[in-house]
Amino acid sequence: MQMAAASATAPAVASTDASTLGALLRASFGHDNGINGAGVDAKCVAKVCGAVEAIARSTVRISQNLREHGFTSANTVGNQNAFGDAQLEIDVTADAIICDELERSGVVHTVSSEEIPRPRQLPHRACSPDCPLVAAFDPLDGSSVIATNFSVGSIYALWAAPSFEGVSGCEAVASAAAVYGPRTTLFVTVGAGADVWEVTLHPCVDRMGESNVRRVAMDKHGKLFAPANLRACVDRKGYRNLVSYYMENRYTLRYTGGMVPDVTQLLVKGYGVFVSPVSEKAPAKLRLLYEAIPMAMLVENAQGASSDGTQSLLQVCVRHCEQRTPVCLGSVEEIRRVEQFLGHDDTTPAS
Ligand code: F6P
Repeated sequence: MQMAAASATAPAVASTDASTLGALLRASFGHDNGINGAGVDAKCVAKVCGAVEAIARSTVRISQNLREHGFTSANTVGNQNAFGDAQLEIDVTADAIICDELERSGVVHTVSSEEIPRPRQLPHRACSPDCPLVAAFDPLDGSSVIATNFSVGSIYALWAAPSFEGVSGCEAVASAAAVYGPRTTLFVTVGAGADVWEVTLHPCVDRMGESNVRRVAMDKHGKLFAPANLRACVDRKGYRNLVSYYMENRYTLRYTGGMVPDVTQLLVKGYGVFVSPVSEKAPAKLRLLYEAIPMAMLVENAQGASSDGTQSLLQVCVRHCEQRTPVCLGSVEEIRRVEQFLGHDDTTPAS
């Protein structure tokens, strides 16, 4: 199996010879190919790989579900989640699939999801007490664009910790984001500062060994912008000036309203910026635990940067599961520029 860095000229793609992604990851530890699990305790490596394999299986199952029940998946179930968002059938199904796969993996003892944002212990089958893993996830991000048939995704982060209390992104042992688009892809990284892999999954769980893998990395700058929560422009001169800067400097706008494709496009293209500043009248939507931290780990490990406006999102401590945050992700120099514009902000309304 050969893996190579993403490059504008020759993105190398290779078919895996492992029977599953987890087997691929396990086989890769100990080899100097970048899936190195940096900062992951040696006794945890196999377990983290087992959890990633469960995430990959969930990805294929959710993708199949979206395709098979496309017309009904966007139906609401008549409930709201804890954040007041209308719950869709597919939100509930995706949450159940992920819990099922993580439980089967036998390596994750507690989960917390955006659908049910409180820690839940999984019924233990064989979860050993050494290296207990906790998993946070947004089972299906982008519900508001699912009916329009835009790409949507799932987001994950794992910690080797007894609970979510006081964790921060820099202690996470792995993160992943699944994209359900024309292809089903999984972006995954294991360990602090480790490489980031884009895995194009075979659409059948039993044939995941035929998935394709390539390494992705980001340049320091690049003229692509994805401006979320644009309503905050009305209240924040700095955000207005930033958007004007992008237009005057002929940046390309690429924005769908689904965080997963809007951020993973930066990993695929290798440059650009996603911003979601906030204001009093346009408050933060994105959650630190379920959305900001996992995506920040992927972007930072791909040599990009993250910021809440002043500091890396990986430095921010999780005080409670519902915590929301401004989010800026992308090329290092683009994030420095965002911090400068938003740092010199005032709240002058647009004229
Ligand atoms: O979390 C919900 C979400 O759909 C994200 O996926 C996305 O980035 C954000 O909302 C879009 O917000 P807005 O429509 O305000 O730009």
